[in-house]
Amino acid sequence: METLLSGKAAVITGCNKGIGLAIAEQFAAAGANIIACCRKETEETSRTFRRIAERNEVEVLPLYFDLSDESAVKRGIKAIKGLKRPINCLVNNAGIPHLSLLPFVKAEDIHRILQVNYIAPLMMIQGLQGLLSKGRPASIVNMASVAGMDGGIGNSVYGASKAAVIMLTKVVSKELAAMGIRCNAVAPGLTSTGFADSMGEKAKESMRQASALHRLATPEEIAGTALFLASERASFINGQVIRVDGSM
Ligand SMILES: NC(=O)c1ccc[n+]([C@@H]2O[C@H](COP(=O)([O-])OP(=O)(O)OC[C@H]3O[C@@H](n4cnc5c(N)ncnc54)[C@H](OP(=O)(O)O)[C@@H]3O)[C@@H](O)[C@H]2O)c1
Repeated sequence: METLLSGKAAVITGCNKGIGLAIAEQFAAAGANIIACCRKETEETSRTFRRIAERNEVEVLPLYFDLSDESAVKRGIKAIKGLKRPINCLVNNAGIPHLSLLPFVKAEDIHRILQVNYIAPLMMIQGLQGLLSKGRPASIVNMASVAGMDGGIGNSVYGASKAAVIMLTKVVSKELAAMGIRCNAVAPGLTSTGFADSMGEKAKESMRQASALHRLATPEEIAGTALFLASERASFINGQVIRVDGSM
């Protein structure tokens, strides 16, 4: 068994499905105890986290809060701080898709997407930097997107939220380096999750064609990059954005 994160504590947002679930699975298999941050508790999330914990003999502690609600994020951060344990990794994975031509973009969507995709990750970093410093050498991995680097039709809001995450990554990598905290981002191309399905078949096909490998990424391929960046194998990688898109 891989033990890249043996005994480490990792906070992961949005880990009940998709890329976040693959990250939780791979981090747990690498020996990490997981603080699993999700929007809401269901029988399925409880079952999934129990299974991950038992299979890997690690602790998986679920915490439920909605990243679209600033006060809920503050409560979530307080709950994590209340655990009074050092944190070694923070993965800001949760995010919401949005694809719309400019004339159809609604103001409420802009605020919701920026809140979940950019403001919440910033708040998580701000709120947990003390615990991350206690867990040094520590690592933050932010989930960006190629949409935040390349732009593209329909991406004025989602792409901008991910460009903001990339800038946040670069700034944090410099501001927190002295505290023993690295910060990097993963920028996936279209990846086979419910998120990609919500884009519709036409958008999926055009992304498939845009990648030199002519397919979507798997959640596991994105999770593998997050695991590498979170681990000490990436100890001198800081402030970087790693594209995982099969070459577009
Ligand atoms: N899939 C892709 O093609 C792709 C490409 C580039 C980047 N990304 C990025 O990768 C990350 C994960 O995406 P995915 O493909 O795994 O999507 P997904 O399957 O839709 O999962 C998204 C996760 O984010 C959580 N989330 C959404 N809104 C939330 C909120 N208000 N509060 C708390 N949690 C919330 C979801 O929770 P619920 O189950 O409660 O909704 C879910 O756990 C996102 O940041 C996304 O932008 C994805």
